[in-house]
Amino acid sequence: MKNKNCYPVATRPCWSKLATLLAVLLPFAAFADNAKKMEVFSWWTSGGEAAALDALFNVYKKQDPGVEIINATVAGGGGSAARPVLQTRLAGGNPPDTWQTHPGWELLGQYVDPGYCEPLNDIYQSESWDKVLPSQLISILSRDGKEWCVLCGVHRGNDLWYNKKVLDKAGIKIGDTISIDEFLADCAKLKAAGVTPLAVGDSGIWATAQLFENTLLGTVGPDGWKALFSGKMPFDDPKVKQAAQSYAKMLEYQNSDHSALTWDQAIKAVQEGRCAFSSMGDWAHGEFTNAHLQDNVDFGWVSHPGTAGGFIVVADGFTLAKNAPHKAEAVAWLKSIGSKDAQEAFNPLKGSIPVRTDVDKSKFGPYHQWSMKSFATDALLPSCVHGEAAPAAFQQALNDAITQFVVDKNVDAFCSALVQAAKDSNITK
Ligand code: BGC
Repeated sequence: MKNKNCYPVATRPCWSKLATLLAVLLPFAAFADNAKKMEVFSWWTSGGEAAALDALFNVYKKQDPGVEIINATVAGGGGSAARPVLQTRLAGGNPPDTWQTHPGWELLGQYVDPGYCEPLNDIYQSESWDKVLPSQLISILSRDGKEWCVLCGVHRGNDLWYNKKVLDKAGIKIGDTISIDEFLADCAKLKAAGVTPLAVGDSGIWATAQLFENTLLGTVGPDGWKALFSGKMPFDDPKVKQAAQSYAKMLEYQNSDHSALTWDQAIKAVQEGRCAFSSMGDWAHGEFTNAHLQDNVDFGWVSHPGTAGGFIVVADGFTLAKNAPHKAEAVAWLKSIGSKDAQEAFNPLKGSIPVRTDVDKSKFGPYHQWSMKSFATDALLPSCVHGEAAPAAFQQALNDAITQFVVDKNVDAFCSALVQAAKDSNITK
């Protein structure tokens, strides 16, 4: 019988040859360990998000091909699952080199105040970004005269997307704007025709909180929005109650499997004609693009009911970690994502508009043209659901109140919870 432990003479290993091979390879292994790397942390994992992130990586790799990018993603729309993971890493002194963030409260309250970030003034100066970035955008990422993140795009949060063929078949025409009452009437008509009117994917609660946020703006208007988040209007104002009532009515028209779906699966339901509408930020446009669907042919959009004239800003940026393990590479990454090339490559795929004013607008399609116009002319308002308008504790309290409201539709209890949260977060005194 063949003894498996014995090598036939011809293939017997020659230990001295192996040793020589190791001696040759080991220095390369050591070199590989020192190879240039950079870790980018984000929650961009849906089809459209991942394609857009890849476009950023490609621009960066062109200028610095030798760097290995560690693509650290944690799935979960809106960053709901990513942020806790990030916080644990930051608190444990194990930061990624650079991470995704929203400007406003999230950036400043969660990362800058606790000292997790490096200021970026040198980069802003060397790249002369003050000449090509709108000052309102610079101001929401600055503190004490220093900039703290680099933006790659600005999403519009308050969009209503629809499947054109489904609406055509139901005889519903959407004009340039739509009111909440018109929207509810369309939903009733669709339901009567056997079509599920509204797609929601709130396996992450933020997605239905977004439906409420958009409806809140549609009811209180831009001035009301500013008053609410500066503590001048209480969260139990009759208008907030009215918004909650309208939101409750909308929920009657949502898909029955909403809590099992992610936001992008809800968009897919619209793409495939299983539902007619979805209210979602324009990262949804990235999903339509990724599915090779055409603006104004396969799908359409309009400002979320009642919100024409307002633009809920959901801007995406990246930070530089204090004590970044690969600082030089991370600085090069930040310069790259702020460049014209990167912004022109990334935003058409992501659904957001570029932050730079000097991009070639002809590289953008109908939706982006519409959103760029809205950004230039409408009231720009920070998103609460995406961490810009209020401290993290209020954002969390809103999500908790929404979780309860989806079940009990108790308008008074909902508004009282928000009033308390606004006090606890010092929005109101
Ligand atoms: C981010 C977008 C992202 C969306 C869904 C938002 O908070 O700003 O970039 O696509 O969440 O994940």
